[in-house]
Amino acid sequence: MSIWFFLNGALLLWALWNTVQSLAGHSVYHHILLGFAGLLFFIFNWTRNAVFATIRSTEDRAVKIRLARMSKKIMPWHRWVGTLSFIIILLHGAAVLHLYGFNPGSMKILTGLLASVNLLALVLSGWYSLLIRHNLRTRRLHFGLGLTMFILTALHLFF
Ligand code: HEM
Ligand code: HEM
Repeated sequence: MSIWFFLNGALLLWALWNTVQSLAGHSVYHHILLGFAGLLFFIFNWTRNAVFATIRSTEDRAVKIRLARMSKKIMPWHRWVGTLSFIIILLHGAAVLHLYGFNPGSMKILTGLLASVNLLALVLSGWYSLLIRHNLRTRRLHFGLGLTMFILTALHLFF
């Protein structure tokens, strides 16, 4: 088992907790639910990293094969889940800006904007890997953007 399963689970629980608290304190919900839905799609795709890390580290051949098969089955969905995550987050951002306006002093809005620019780069790097060129560099880039996304999402939840 990779530590990433634990970290992803922790981020998800934290997001759920924040979402429930935000829902309880508001009378308008759609912007909050959109944020949570986008995060769900992101974490689903990012879990690919936890699965790959486990395949690399486990000694158990049966586990390796089971995870590799599962990962292959999910791959056709990966591109659409990632793209959908970006579209949903775009709607979340638009709904938030429509409700509150653009306040550059709000860390919540700033970290959100930063995370969504990062998500766009992540999605574009994925399509680039798939359609144009796939090598160690594009793979590292895609992975690095995924990792940055994880950190920025945590910051967005923190503020
Ligand atoms: C376009 C950029 C973004 C902006 C302007 C933005 C802004 C905000 C704001 C102001 C809230 C608080 C809403 C409230 O309590 O009324 C919020 C909540 C939330 N956002 Fe974002 N966000 C953005 C991007 C993201 C991204 C990239 C993610 C995750 C992948 C995300 C996930 C969430 C979640 C789960 C909540 C609900 C929980 C909480 O209030 O902490 N948002 N966002
Ligand atoms: C939420 C957005 C996304 C996340 C978090 C994400 C995450 C990941 C992760 C963790 C891997 C495994 C990396 C490794 O260890 O090798 C991966 C691989 C891959 N992803 Fe994504 N991805 C996202 C969106 C996309 C999109 C939209 C595409 C579009 C086609 C895509 C295409 C690929 C491809 C082709 C691979 C396998 C080859 C490679 O590693 O470069 N991804 N992704």
